[in-house]
Amino acid sequence: MRVLGIETSCDETAAAVVTEAGDVLSDVVRSQVALHAPYGGVVPEVAARDHARAVVPVVREALARAGVAAADLDGVAVTSRPGLAGALLVGLQAAKGLAWAAGKPLVGVDHLVGHLLAVFLRRDGAPAPEERPEFPYVALLASGGHTAIYRVDGPALGAIRELGATRDDAAGEAFDKVAKLLGLGYPGGPVVDRLAAEGDAAAAAEAVPAVMARKESLEFSFSGIKSAVARHVARRGRPEGQALNDLCAAFQGAVVGALVQKTVRAARAEGVERVVLAGGVAANRGLRASMAAACARRGLALFVPPFASCTDNGAMIAYAGALRLAAGERDTLDLAPETKTALPRVTRKGGGAR
Ligand code: KG4
Ligand code: ZN
Repeated sequence: MRVLGIETSCDETAAAVVTEAGDVLSDVVRSQVALHAPYGGVVPEVAARDHARAVVPVVREALARAGVAAADLDGVAVTSRPGLAGALLVGLQAAKGLAWAAGKPLVGVDHLVGHLLAVFLRRDGAPAPEERPEFPYVALLASGGHTAIYRVDGPALGAIRELGATRDDAAGEAFDKVAKLLGLGYPGGPVVDRLAAEGDAAAAAEAVPAVMARKESLEFSFSGIKSAVARHVARRGRPEGQALNDLCAAFQGAVVGALVQKTVRAARAEGVERVVLAGGVAANRGLRASMAAACARRGLALFVPPFASCTDNGAMIAYAGALRLAAGERDTLDLAPETKTALPRVTRKGGGAR
């Protein structure tokens, strides 16, 4: 089966052709980062308008690189939720038009399910099938828009359960906001990651508080860390040189510590031996190293997809769609965008005791 996947939920216009075995035949990602950078974050209307400009050429390129015509496809998959309504609408309309014109089945994909299954994608034959995780696994999904821990028993929506999520900012959002405070540009994750590697977290420990009081909770909160950095900068001004590196190290250490601690705790509480990383923050070197060490200590097997599978891409949407098609599922041309995920959520944003 060869399935085209289209992704336009946020600030990447992406399309890919993938088989139901997860083999990536093409994967085209056109980032809007430069367009949004002057604003320090994604501007929804700007995103939607750029998707409208880019979606047809990106889809054409994905088909051309895979060497397939629309007539050769077995289906068209598209991110239908969650995301920015106007941005999602562009991908949906493109997918519907193509599916209708070529007479192919259409399936909507929940973007978060795409991220959670991206570990199965095979690029140039890697990883080998036996190097991919079996179900069940516990997955940490940490990106600019989402941060949560899931138990994944299978690819279907009903087999995926949120164990805990962030109460406020997503982890990537915290990186982006702190980078903005420190004058480091957008997106913040990669630059903070680079500076943190040269810094000493202990030297800036007083600027960054411990993350979440209730140790047994699987919920995250990152806005307090961000505010602490903001107060530190308001008091002392923007640090430079080594002091900047140290502050980045302390901030990253606090975020990574919470992500690792809670993911490992979730795996142990669920009695699951496999841990999977997903989302753009999974590119963080501190997170990768610290999660690897924690999993090794506890006898957990860790699966970290390549960077191209962690950040937003069309391949994960095509693959999740291929599994839906293989299960006999179809959507109609009435498929509408939804801003929220279809996965049930256990964490309430904002309220409650921590
Ligand atoms: O998954 P993604 O490409 O897009 C979505 O948000 O869905 O994730 C982008 C986020 C941004 O917030 C970016 O700052 C963060 O991932 N990020 C990182 C790193 N690379 C990207 N955060 C920490 N360390 C990194 N190396
Ligand atoms: Zn994403």
